[in-house]
Amino acid sequence: MRRKLIAGNWKMNGLSRDGLALAEALAGKLEEARLAGTPPSCDLLICPPFVLLPILRSTASDAEIAMGGQDCHAAESGAHTGDTSAAMLADVGCSFVLVGHSERRQDHGERSKDVAAKASTALSAGLTPVICVGETREERDAGRALDVIESQVRDSLPSAGGSGEVVLAYEPVWAIGTGLTATSADVAEVHGAIRKVLADLRGDATAQATRILYGGSVKPANAAELLGTADVDGALVGGASLKAEDFWAIATAC
Ligand code: G3H
Repeated sequence: MRRKLIAGNWKMNGLSRDGLALAEALAGKLEEARLAGTPPSCDLLICPPFVLLPILRSTASDAEIAMGGQDCHAAESGAHTGDTSAAMLADVGCSFVLVGHSERRQDHGERSKDVAAKASTALSAGLTPVICVGETREERDAGRALDVIESQVRDSLPSAGGSGEVVLAYEPVWAIGTGLTATSADVAEVHGAIRKVLADLRGDATAQATRILYGGSVKPANAAELLGTADVDGALVGGASLKAEDFWAIATAC
């Protein structure tokens, strides 16, 4: 049985006071729910901007909310101005890191082989990489969505020698921040295809144990339907993760 994971990707939003207020509001909701004997039946993860991680560490850790980075470098250390290593993320309390988000593939020219290298370094540092894949509108309209996604998964997974959990996140690029979401049928088809690729590469047991998240305009209003879709093991939430009420409503829709 895969426990669902609800992950908030704050992207490049919020100053320290905003981040702290958001984390504290979430922690408060968790505490209330625990005291009432109704804790959410999913794991919670927040991925704030790098500079907020040390500021949020104790609030997140006290509330048992996992923290993740939004990216890491493929190298362990070295002359990479402006970059952050996986070990640095682990050092400030992260247990996850997003890799291959479409905004990084688009804005920073990241290819799937770069994503695989980052995922591999993340595993070595003890982090769980959340490997993001997804097709563009043009690729879907051309009937190539499944081909594109399957090849992204094959090429973005770290080498089979690496051990440790990985999480996959399917995010149709056209659904990110647009208010559009894929239909449940399309999501089920893609998640099933991703699980088949995992089974092919890593065997059935690993494929069945691997969580596959859906991302792209997940909101309180559509969360229950998306989270109830076959093979959906959680959500990667952008905009709605910036409001504690909305993120909490999504978490409690599990
Ligand atoms: O990482 C999160 C996704 O890009 C989804 O963003 O929920 O704002 O559409 P969104």
